[in-house]
Amino acid sequence: MSKPLRKVVFPVAGLGTRFLPATKAVAKEMLPVLDKPLIQYAVDEAVDAGADTLIFVTNRYKHAIADYFDKAYELEAKLQEKGKAELLALVQGTLPRHVRAIFVTQPEALGLGHAVLCARPVVGDEPFGVILPDDLIWNDGRGALRQMAELAEAEQAGVIAVEEVPHDQTDKYGIVDASAVDDRSARIRHMVEKPKPAEAPSNLAVVGRYVLPARIFQLLDQTTPGAGGEIQLTDAIEALLKEQGKVLAYRFEGTRFDCGNKAGLVRATMHMAMQDPALAPTVRAFVGNL
Ligand code: UTP
Repeated sequence: MSKPLRKVVFPVAGLGTRFLPATKAVAKEMLPVLDKPLIQYAVDEAVDAGADTLIFVTNRYKHAIADYFDKAYELEAKLQEKGKAELLALVQGTLPRHVRAIFVTQPEALGLGHAVLCARPVVGDEPFGVILPDDLIWNDGRGALRQMAELAEAEQAGVIAVEEVPHDQTDKYGIVDASAVDDRSARIRHMVEKPKPAEAPSNLAVVGRYVLPARIFQLLDQTTPGAGGEIQLTDAIEALLKEQGKVLAYRFEGTRFDCGNKAGLVRATMHMAMQDPALAPTVRAFVGNL
């Protein structure tokens, strides 16, 4: 993990069943929190972490993501003609000029681990980040992935984002058993995918950010389907841990919104609206009335 982070993988080939029927036609990652789709928050976080190559693992239903980052000739010409400079900057600013987007398909939704493995030919032999865009992490200062990339480089180790979750929800997450190094980081001893509360070693849950060495690809290649019949990233990380002895769990600075479910998307929207001085009074009054 000696090189700085340049590449970030966005596995976005899931079916998004918790947002049906909307996700019949709209990719979950294109659902907006105010005026920006979830994928834009994720891309901004990756760019903040220093990435210049973004790899989207998509499927045949997710053209909208590629369209979103592409040039919109007609729209841009219209905005230019009408002198709408601010809107034009928004439309052109979805991807900074120095950053390139590469799209890879996952032919079948065989699990998160399999989706990450699909990015292997593009990532090659260097450390890389993974962002699950439906976990929106908001921080005023350094983004969560930047915090993790800095730790990974300093400690020469893989870093997994974790957060404490209520004890009765361990069966929704990968859970780590770890020994604390300092306030925010801990050395992982063991990881379990979706344990029942009674069997969970802790309530520290893996959330959607990872910084991993390229070695994980070989381990993913050898990983057989685990929980839910899917190729689990957690299982390959557990193998990495056995082999390298050091993978860190990191409690990031920032607030996470699980926008993979309706309540989380509503929370994120309310939070962002309250950050906007033009919207906050309206939201406050509206919620008061409710
Ligand atoms: P989820 O578990 O949230 O699944 O995947 P999902 O299909 O997106 O949503 P639901 O549960 O049906 O509502 C976690 C992340 O892994 C990606 C998803 O796109 C999401 O970012 N993923 C999952 C893939 O890219 N491929 C897969 O085969 C599975």
